[in-house]
Amino acid sequence: MTPIKKWKKWMAVGCSHGDQIDPEARKAVLTFKERWKPDTTFHLGDFLDLAAFRSGAVSDPNSSDRAASVSDDLSAGIDFLHELRPQHILFGNHEARLYKLAASPNALAAHASTLTIQAIEETAKKLKARLYPYHIRSYAELGGTKFLHGYMFNVQAIRDHAEAFGSDIVMAHLHRVGSERARTLDGSTGHCTGMLARFDMEYASTRRATLAWSQGFAYGHYCDTALTVNLCERKSGHPWLLPL
Ligand SMILES: [Fe+2]
Repeated sequence: MTPIKKWKKWMAVGCSHGDQIDPEARKAVLTFKERWKPDTTFHLGDFLDLAAFRSGAVSDPNSSDRAASVSDDLSAGIDFLHELRPQHILFGNHEARLYKLAASPNALAAHASTLTIQAIEETAKKLKARLYPYHIRSYAELGGTKFLHGYMFNVQAIRDHAEAFGSDIVMAHLHRVGSERARTLDGSTGHCTGMLARFDMEYASTRRATLAWSQGFAYGHYCDTALTVNLCERKSGHPWLLPL
């Protein structure tokens, strides 16, 4: 007789972007977490926005991002992590800026980056969470599915990640909720959680692609060898409708 699998519950969010988080999205995912009670929770990266650390902001003296508050961003991002209590925290391309600048000859930027990295590491320690660097070979895994932030950015990026990683994947990065099939013999599927950031973030104001953004999160069941994926999506101008 086949042994009965013991299923557990998981959930994943991504792209909350520090103080750019949408308060409604924040409330929705924390409410869902309270109701769903997952055994495993992921933050898939971009938990900080770090606009002032953007290379354009560093090099352009007139960039408005130079004035983006590092402390507001850091405290909002850390605060959200404390409330979400993920066991797995992945760095996204926004946190990756810190590691570039930590080695900068600009002593002020290097010091600010190092202090921010320390604050993230202390938070992870308090939460007993594992941190994953922003590196294509660094990902979390649960029930045979890989969890990552994301690297490619194109209209078929969800499919491309599933094909590149050779398994089912759950990612963030693209700021749109969706699922796409991989063109592989084992029939993998990619899923994107969408974002939790505000639809009207400053850098979205003139980019057509951002009109396709949606907020959301992913959740499901898992055992040692399998994992199910459900997505909850909220489009701009729509209310949050939680599945629980
Ligand atoms: Fe993001």
